[in-house]
Amino acid sequence: TGNVTLDVGFVNTASCKSAITYIDGDAGILRYRGYPIDQLAEKSSFLEVSYLLIYGELPTSEQLAEFTAKIQRHTMLHEDLKDLLAAFPRDAHPMSVLSAAVSALGTFYQDSLSITDKDQVELSTIRLLAKLPTIAAYAFKKSQGQPTLYPDNNLDLVENFLRLTFGYPTEDWTPNPVVTKALDQLFILHADHEQNCSTSTVRLVGSGHANLFSSISAGIHALSGPLHGGANSAVLEMLDTIEQDFGGDVDKFVEKVKNKEAGVKLMGFGHRVYKNYDPRAAIVKNAADEVLQALGVDDPKLAMARRLEEIALSDEYFVSRKLYPNVDFYTGIIYKAMGFPTEMFTVLFAIGRLPGWIAQWREMMEDPATKIGRPRQIYIGETERDYPSA
Ligand code: CMC
Repeated sequence: TGNVTLDVGFVNTASCKSAITYIDGDAGILRYRGYPIDQLAEKSSFLEVSYLLIYGELPTSEQLAEFTAKIQRHTMLHEDLKDLLAAFPRDAHPMSVLSAAVSALGTFYQDSLSITDKDQVELSTIRLLAKLPTIAAYAFKKSQGQPTLYPDNNLDLVENFLRLTFGYPTEDWTPNPVVTKALDQLFILHADHEQNCSTSTVRLVGSGHANLFSSISAGIHALSGPLHGGANSAVLEMLDTIEQDFGGDVDKFVEKVKNKEAGVKLMGFGHRVYKNYDPRAAIVKNAADEVLQALGVDDPKLAMARRLEEIALSDEYFVSRKLYPNVDFYTGIIYKAMGFPTEMFTVLFAIGRLPGWIAQWREMMEDPATKIGRPRQIYIGETERDYPSA
């Protein structure tokens, strides 16, 4: 195996050069295209951030209007794609439905599968950004046994998604500005995070020249795992367990985690890159307070989560390992207050991460230095041996 270096989990290996997202894990810094995440979360919008990630610069107001209009034209799903969604069992996990439907987009939109034709890549980009929220809402409706709605293109992307999710064909739907703003902000916080597991998956699949729909579909699967995007639902499940099996005794649960007897790690804690407070978690923590208060929701889980954080941040086990709350720690409590069931949390992460995946795939495809991703290995199996003679 010559010069091959073993790096399990790619702890020290850069797989590409990228100009999209900058993270300094020790200082707790995150920037998209140079803009600090807290400024974007406070002042920008999810669509504007999507534009920034994909095209490299903030849009002018005309560019943003054009981008928004293009996306609005593509929010509907092909009626036959709805048949595919209808065929899944009602208790199907919405992440599986999401990934399958995105994969199927490649069969419905064969006119935009080229990876080299810029116009086709652009069309696939717009189709994905426009249709993923619709698919996600339909997966939700399916799980509830409720009728689906057609998108309303007078609404913006986040409002449209909320209406498709929580609206009924028989009633007018009124947006709640607190929910819309908070969800838009959460999507911004999730929009990119450089070479994480799902983004690396999107790049690896794309590096073999698979089309954008196939690459994103693979990314959604990667995101579904509880160590990655699935952590946001795992946090809520963990808080349920603490409530039900530990009588709400957070300290007792943390002891079990430390002794590796809890069956899980402390979900929503720790990060491969952040060895300091995750800057996104700080923003989400404040948002949780504001949103719950504005919605008049008094969830004892928020108090439990705060206590859990307090214990962990002062406990030697977590301190010595530099384990801090990550972006997923408080998001679930907000999503729950908005009315989303736990299975939908990771789907929300996927909607937020989509522009990042697309930006990274496009950057890779445009980079002349790109090669097919093909890691090496250290072989530890048998040396040559002869097939037994009869
Ligand atoms: N609870 C308890 N112990 C932990 C945790 C945790 N959440 N995270 C890491 N550790 C321990 C780990 O057991 C190890 O201890 P020891 O040296 O005694 O074996 C040490 O800390 C180093 O951890 P690691 O597993 O080598 O770290 P990693 O960089 O491979 O893993 C991680 C990073 C995020 C997968 C991990 O911290 C984890 O599983 N966290 C819980 C799941 C989670 O919240 N994931 C969301 C991550 S952020 C958003 C996203 O990626 O989607």
